[in-house]
Amino acid sequence: MVRILRIELPRRLIPRKLKMVVCCLAIVFSLTVVYYSITGTAAVPHKRSNDDLEAAIRIIDHRILHLEQGKKTYPEVKFLMYKDRKRILITGGAGFVGSHLVDRLMMQGHEVAVVDNFFTGRKRNIEHWIGHENFELLHHDIVNPLYIEVDQIYHLASPASPPNYMYNPIKTLKTNTLGTINMLGLAKRVRARLLLASTSEVYGDPELHPQNEDYWGHVNPIGPRACYDEGKRVAETMCYAYEKQEKVEVRVARIFNTFGPRMHMNDGRVVSNFILQALQNESITVYGDGDQTRSFQYVSDLVDGLMALMNSNYSQPVNIGNPEEHTIMEFAKIINTLVGGQGQIVKKMAMEDDPQRRKPDISRAMKYLNWQPKIPLMVGLNKTIEYFRNELRRSQHSERNFHMPEKFQV
Ligand SMILES: NC(=O)c1ccc[n+]([C@@H]2O[C@H](COP(=O)([O-])OP(=O)(O)OC[C@H]3O[C@@H](n4cnc5c(N)ncnc54)[C@H](O)[C@@H]3O)[C@@H](O)[C@H]2O)c1
Ligand SMILES: *[C@@H]1O[C@H](CO)[C@@H](O)[C@H](O)[C@H]1NC(C)=O
Ligand SMILES: *[C@@H]1O[C@H](CO)[C@@H](O)[C@H](O)[C@H]1NC(C)=O
Ligand SMILES: *[C@@H]1O[C@H](CO)[C@@H](O)[C@H](O)[C@H]1NC(C)=O
Repeated sequence: MVRILRIELPRRLIPRKLKMVVCCLAIVFSLTVVYYSITGTAAVPHKRSNDDLEAAIRIIDHRILHLEQGKKTYPEVKFLMYKDRKRILITGGAGFVGSHLVDRLMMQGHEVAVVDNFFTGRKRNIEHWIGHENFELLHHDIVNPLYIEVDQIYHLASPASPPNYMYNPIKTLKTNTLGTINMLGLAKRVRARLLLASTSEVYGDPELHPQNEDYWGHVNPIGPRACYDEGKRVAETMCYAYEKQEKVEVRVARIFNTFGPRMHMNDGRVVSNFILQALQNESITVYGDGDQTRSFQYVSDLVDGLMALMNSNYSQPVNIGNPEEHTIMEFAKIINTLVGGQGQIVKKMAMEDDPQRRKPDISRAMKYLNWQPKIPLMVGLNKTIEYFRNELRRSQHSERNFHMPEKFQV
């Protein structure tokens, strides 16, 4: 009994306090009533409180207006009827290519789920969709299984540039093998179609120019790039094993070099290097004599190609790239001119294993997907330069540099 009393004692303190507060309020109220009934001035404070009320409403109105102005607005999305609206999963959707694909599919009116572990992806690439009812962002590593209901899977998750995929080769391998198995397992369970973002690196250091899809490639299985090249090659193998054995619908895109806004500034690739050097008024470094050629596609062309492939009935690998070739020296000059850079172009020792040519044969994409790149190099470069210029201007987190979808410029 004693024990119970001891426990109950502190609990009863709270109602006591409450009672005291209520009592005080009651006293104040009755005193006020008595005061006004004696002085007979009840009408005046009544009027005054009306004024107060109006003032308060004005303040609230102002606040609401303020809130509405600061309210998040989303790019306009098309309305799709239930039967046309697909649930689409994009792995690696917070990355460079993935975020542009998210933009396009969202604006078409689909429901988009992004899965990303933010290894190289960034939340701000897709920040303009967070909160939209058609959009979902899942922080998840695809090396672990995922259970979710979807109709289509764009499987893009994988580090993509040499410094990123060489940073942790084992993780790169796991992402491309275990991760791809997990996504194919998911596709099998929910009967979704899966598109694999493969790469021109499956051709390795090619002996055939330009490369077509029937070429088996020339890859060093134990070289520094093998974790990526062989990872993607086995990912392709897995796709066709699941197609054959489990009847999973697969699409394989062999993506060639791509550039555009939201690409990584410090990935050490030709376009980003040259733009950064030119913007910072540094001399542009060309390795070797600059005669080696490259071809680059603008990211919106790639997104068109990926979507065309996903929605086609063609299930063999398809090259997606821009066959327009330029020498490295030409690129350096073009970029320097567009930026208005003052720097020189300097030549340095040639890099080891630097391929002399890489160029896609896109006749398959033209034939089966009716696809070919549309964006001229200069237009794409200008957009990328603008994005990089804004990135370099940032000195504080609050100075945001969003690259909004084309039809939603703020
Ligand atoms: N950009 C190109 O030029 C190019 C060329 C050929 C192929 N590709 C392929 O296209 C895809 C996208 O490339 P990108 O340029 O947008 O690269 P990116 O690095 O910007 O995007 C890759 C995304 O995958 C995410 N990711 C990596 N590992 C993951 C994991 N284990 N779980 C979940 N998410 C993970 C990263 O955080 C990032 O958001 C990649 O598969 C890449 O191999 C790109
Ligand atoms: C594939 O699509 C094309 C055009 O869309 C069509 O002509 C062809 O019959 C289709 N093939 C199959 C096997 O469905
Ligand atoms: C760029 O460099 C040139 C020559 O080195 C110099 O004259 C010029 O003022 C620099 N411009 C800027 C913007 O720093
Ligand atoms: C690209 O930008 C440069 C410099 O701002 C401009 O002179 C040029 O006309 C632009 N080109 C295209 C194709 O937009």
